[in-house]
Amino acid sequence: MTSILQIKDLSKNFGGLAAVDAVTLNFEEGRVHAIIGPNGAGKTTLINLLSGDHKPSAGRILFKGKDITTKPPEAISQLGIGRSYQKTNIFPSLSCLQNCWLAAQSRLRSSMRFFRPAEAYDDVRSRAELALEMCGLTGRRDTIASEMSYGEQRQLEIGMMLATEPEVLLLDEPLAGMGTEEATQVISLLRTLAQSHTLILIEHDMDAVFAVAEMLTVMVNGQVLETGTPDQIRASKAVREAYLGEDMEEMTP
Ligand SMILES: Nc1ncnc2c1ncn2[C@@H]1O[C@H](COP(=O)(O)OP(=O)(O)O)[C@@H](O)[C@H]1O
Ligand SMILES: [Mg+2]
Repeated sequence: MTSILQIKDLSKNFGGLAAVDAVTLNFEEGRVHAIIGPNGAGKTTLINLLSGDHKPSAGRILFKGKDITTKPPEAISQLGIGRSYQKTNIFPSLSCLQNCWLAAQSRLRSSMRFFRPAEAYDDVRSRAELALEMCGLTGRRDTIASEMSYGEQRQLEIGMMLATEPEVLLLDEPLAGMGTEEATQVISLLRTLAQSHTLILIEHDMDAVFAVAEMLTVMVNGQVLETGTPDQIRASKAVREAYLGEDMEEMTP
């Protein structure tokens, strides 16, 4: 397997708190790698470091072998690492298509600089339409985002990420706040996306995690407690003791 993203001794301190504490991890190309752990474990901070939203206090991040540690979020998005946020991050007064359009525009292919405006326009439009189709919202094309259900808004957010044509998707709790039906739909979307992308997924819903993840990392107090396949994590004594403890049945899919 080839690592598409590697992090080495990565740390992020907030004052005296090590939110991410010397984490070393490899993310294999094409895999679904879930990061789990209790609230405050440092999962979102780790994603923020990978997306460039936070600058690390120490350590390195490599994407396809190249150091991207100090790159700003726009540059990281342009390289092909897309992210969704734990809280929805859409433009509420715009339609679904317009939201995807803006996202597509934010990552105009550099080659497009040499094309005429009409061609660049067509490129953005077709990527916005494709992203809408992939996230399952073609039927909601002209619906104003704020008029949709919470679940659909989260789906739209995934669409906006797809409009930037990422290779790696960073997903921070994509199922949070969803009903069962909406969650089922998004899990099936994640499975589809997993066929052609690398997914790094933070999720609380253990059924969903064990249904889609091929690799799991358990974080506690900013550190990696264990990384392994779902079977290895289920069997891990350290994980049982430190994280799941009394609630082991949650891990049985
Ligand atoms: N911007 C910030 N400023 C200060 N502390 C933060 C900030 N972001 C996160 N933290 C702290 O870092 C720790 C890890 O938070 P977070 O990464 O959000 O955990 P998780 O996503 O696993 O719940 C928590 O103690 C949180 O309070
Ligand atoms: Mg979080």
